[in-house]
Amino acid sequence: MTIMPTTETLAPTALDLTHVRSQFPSLAQAVNGHPAVFLDGPGGTQVPQRVIDAISNYLRRDNANTCGAYATSGHTDTMLADARSAMADFLHCAADEIVFGPNMTTLTFAMSRAIGRDLGSGDEILVTRLDHDANVSPWLALEETGVTIRWAEIHEEDCTLDLADLASKINQKTKLVAVGYASNAVGTINPVKEIVRLAHAAGALAYVDAVHYGPHGVIDVAALDCDFLVCSTYKFFGPHMGVLFGKREHLQRLRPYKVRPLTDAVPNRWEWGTLNHECIAGITACVEYLADLGRRHYPQAANRRAAIVAAFETIRRYERGLMERLIAGISEIPQLKIYGITDRSCFDWRCPTLAVRVVNQNKNQTPLALATKLGDRGFFTWDGNYYALNLTEQLDVEKSGGFLRIGLVHYNTAEEVDRLLVTLCQIVAS
Ligand SMILES: Cc1ncc(COP(=O)(O)O)c(C=O)c1O
Repeated sequence: MTIMPTTETLAPTALDLTHVRSQFPSLAQAVNGHPAVFLDGPGGTQVPQRVIDAISNYLRRDNANTCGAYATSGHTDTMLADARSAMADFLHCAADEIVFGPNMTTLTFAMSRAIGRDLGSGDEILVTRLDHDANVSPWLALEETGVTIRWAEIHEEDCTLDLADLASKINQKTKLVAVGYASNAVGTINPVKEIVRLAHAAGALAYVDAVHYGPHGVIDVAALDCDFLVCSTYKFFGPHMGVLFGKREHLQRLRPYKVRPLTDAVPNRWEWGTLNHECIAGITACVEYLADLGRRHYPQAANRRAAIVAAFETIRRYERGLMERLIAGISEIPQLKIYGITDRSCFDWRCPTLAVRVVNQNKNQTPLALATKLGDRGFFTWDGNYYALNLTEQLDVEKSGGFLRIGLVHYNTAEEVDRLLVTLCQIVAS
């Protein structure tokens, strides 16, 4: 019997941070004599040594194209099958429902073009104001074919989706609902399962962007029942690659634009040209990193999926503590405003990704100015809209530099958070 930990059954030990950090060589760097603090996870996370090793070992030993009648080509085929099965465990689906691509944006444009072949005037697609543009523009492109794009609005005060508004915009004409699992700008986690249910009730497909959620929580496409879900392995401790889950029936039914000699079998009919083999070798290593983390904290885990679930239970609890510390600390800095959920009782609905701005900022306190001063002191943050363009426009911060984004992941420490708070205080007061 498979042992599947749940919040109720799992009693994880606390995250072994020394063990975690020892696996990420880049964390040991310094900037201007300050230890580097990686708060840029939402833009891309660091990788453990085993990912670096898997990439270089592939290039050293197995570097070949697929389906050839010789050893290294055979090894490459096996490596690709292993990576597909690792991602199937990561997302909880079958291996032939996993499609690899260069990144989430490219995969989504490919899928929107294929889905759009069967759509036209009178059809509607629903997108949200909260999403990264990679889950907006590929659908907006279908306006050319006569498709109408509708927008689900947000509650500005806490940057959550207005579910009533979203539900009111789904109707019999809706062919697809595109929604983010979590916002890469303000950290909001959306009620994706409920949104998938609403889409299906109207006969629409549900397309989920899980790029930002990937490093923070376990993804279960079977439980969500979504039709498509996309993520990027470079956001969860792996190489720069994108991965798409599509229900097998859709991958078989939809018509990809493809070259003729390419097989019509799924999932390969969706993978055009030669893939980035070395990075795909790194994907298995990053999933194994997470699974090993889970096994360390939950040795009873009976298989890799159970270990991944356990890893995210441990990660979620640890990140929650860090997030509470950071939000409490920033709330005490009167010059700073946090955008997004700040009510502790709703923290289950946010990731540890914070968007902040100086209230009534002057030109020395723009998000870029803050990020630059922090960067000089070794804190890696981001500034601007990070492609969540509709959100920064809606909140009227786009023209004045967007937000400063502070993103925590499980290799960050409480000590880093405390040092950041002290430094932020000094910077905004100067
Ligand atoms: C929420 C979200 N969706 C989509 C993307 C685009 O991902 P990719 O770079 O893999 O195309 C990003 C990248 O930052 C993101 O944060």
